[in-house]
Amino acid sequence: MIVSPSILSCDFGNVERDTKMLHNSEADWLHIDVMDGVFVPNISFGFPILKSVNTHTDKVLDVHLMIANPDQYIKDFVDAGADIITVHYETCPHLHRSIQLIKSYGVKAGVALNPHTPVQVLEEVLSDLDLVLIMSVNPGFGGQKFIPSSVAKVAKMKALIIEHNASAIIEVDGGVNLQTGAALSAAGADALVAGSYVFKSDNPSATISNLKKL
Ligand code: DX5
Ligand code: ZN
Repeated sequence: MIVSPSILSCDFGNVERDTKMLHNSEADWLHIDVMDGVFVPNISFGFPILKSVNTHTDKVLDVHLMIANPDQYIKDFVDAGADIITVHYETCPHLHRSIQLIKSYGVKAGVALNPHTPVQVLEEVLSDLDLVLIMSVNPGFGGQKFIPSSVAKVAKMKALIIEHNASAIIEVDGGVNLQTGAALSAAGADALVAGSYVFKSDNPSATISNLKKL
């Protein structure tokens, strides 16, 4: 399992310490949640935090853009150190163009789906994608309750990927713990984001190691 701990749940007074902890853990990627207060009802952080994280690790920076008009900022996120950029289907009226824009900078392209958005909307772009992100909570906040129907949605996404002979990997975000993570793994998830479950645990590195084994 690919594990991508979300720095949204880190201590922002100690970004360097928490990034170094993740760097020295078994985490594969670092998940960066960018929120604009427009697409989602919360504001998180922007380029300075991403740049700071990037100076303390060479792990893959997995950037999840919960922002309106993401095309406008793709180059800035690449310059700040993003390795994977995921935009929301719900924010991109010209999704094909957004995906090509991300790929034009040589970084990996992902598309996220809100809980109410069916997997079928990605059918025509699936072969262009490196990653699909299934939201298992409504985006905007860490620490929310996992939406149980997300497990069946992951299985549907997996079937669609196989049907189209596509190579996109399935990442799941929201309410992930060892229990929900096991169900998601069985349904076909390739990567798990975990924020509060990692950072609120007594031993975040050990928690990451446990998620890796799913
Ligand atoms: C939610 C974010 C998530 C969040 C997950 O809008 O996209 O990445 O950090 O937090 P947990 O793991 O606490 O549900
Ligand atoms: Zn996220």
